[in-house]
Amino acid sequence: MEAREEWRSGLGFMLAAAGSAVGLGNLWGFAYRTQQGGGAAFLLLYVLIVLVVCLPVLVAEMVLGRSTTSSPLLAPVKAGGTLWQPMGWVFVIASCGILSFYAVLMGWTADTFFHSLFFGLPQSLDEATTFVTSVSKGSSVFLGQLLSLVLTAAVVSAGIRGGIEKIARWSMPLLFGLVIILAVWSATLPGAWDGYKDFLLKWDSSQLRNPETIRNAFGQAFFSLSLGIGIMVAYSSYLNKKNQLPKQALIISGMDTSVGILAGMVTFPIVASFPQVQEAVKGSFVSTFFVALPTGLSSLGITGQIIAVLLFSLTFIAALTSAISLLEVPVSSLIDSFGWNRNKAVIFSTILIFVIGVPSAISEDFLGKMFTYMDILLLLGGFLISILIGWFVTRTYDNDLSESNSNISVRRYLKFMLRWVSPIAIAFGLFVSVYDLVKSAIT
Ligand code: PHE
Repeated sequence: MEAREEWRSGLGFMLAAAGSAVGLGNLWGFAYRTQQGGGAAFLLLYVLIVLVVCLPVLVAEMVLGRSTTSSPLLAPVKAGGTLWQPMGWVFVIASCGILSFYAVLMGWTADTFFHSLFFGLPQSLDEATTFVTSVSKGSSVFLGQLLSLVLTAAVVSAGIRGGIEKIARWSMPLLFGLVIILAVWSATLPGAWDGYKDFLLKWDSSQLRNPETIRNAFGQAFFSLSLGIGIMVAYSSYLNKKNQLPKQALIISGMDTSVGILAGMVTFPIVASFPQVQEAVKGSFVSTFFVALPTGLSSLGITGQIIAVLLFSLTFIAALTSAISLLEVPVSSLIDSFGWNRNKAVIFSTILIFVIGVPSAISEDFLGKMFTYMDILLLLGGFLISILIGWFVTRTYDNDLSESNSNISVRRYLKFMLRWVSPIAIAFGLFVSVYDLVKSAIT
């Protein structure tokens, strides 16, 4: 048996975890859901969920990985006994399920990037719609999906230090730099203020009672933080005891939320500055991103083209580091459970995920459904983590955090929240989500 790999540094781990968190969910999901969910009212709900409900679970998920030094499939069993085996399966199923459609979206992003770079931007909404149809249908979808998966697989097969940590180290600073530059540029647009007002600077508290908004806020928080899916178990299992998990969890969620807000500050001013593209925005966030933005930018000539190329490359990089983390869940589980070597585990998982992704590549409707249902699995995963660590193996939690010298009052606060607040709030989120889905299926 080879020795278990370890991150080169705590910073490397944090960048990789932030790389997992920051992805497509931040670049278009967050801003769109904020705008739909009542602007600042949604942001408040979101931040509350992140700080009060998710943060304790994030730390617990990290503890589960670090204390067992096991992969997501085995860690629950090692910590709590065979009764907890299904939790490992929830992790593996959710990560394969999410990566299956995520790779399709990455393919669309790559296609739009190449198109913006080599052929220029669509001049009208009609042209853009034709382009998006060509991107999202037919054989180019499979090619995009396949190439995205192959690239992801190449990084994961290079291992923790040589692959995942290395790419996180250069891509995260680059991504931050790019999103800040783009947000500053967007601020100079004539519609900047209207864009901010539409996205964030409004307050519609009636949305806070809307089950769909509550479902979106919970789903977005878990999806965006890559929480409840075993990624943090996998990543933390390569981490030594010197790292203070609560601090790192706070930094990771801070980075994640700021990229979401910054991305909204990039996209909304663009949409607001080009009234001719407003129509496309009404459809869905897919059409905002792939139709409205390139079309709006096309009226700025070469500048618009450069911005589009930067925006879509930024999106692709963000998505790649998330896809890598998703693939690491089945890969590390296969290595751990069957003693496979990394390459074999990567090849097997990649082929499996490609096949599962075929229906999403063919039907946008199916893709949307996968997205919705996987969000619910994440909530379920988060719920199980809070019960296992908060109620069944609390001592593990205490020992792990005290060995790494985390502040005692922070530890007490987190433990209290993990036991009494997170499970109840997540159960509520799960209930509202299922209720909302059943209701919309019936009507
Ligand atoms: N957090 C990623 C994003 O916001 C998506 C993701 C979800 C990645 C779950 C891993 C696990 O796009």
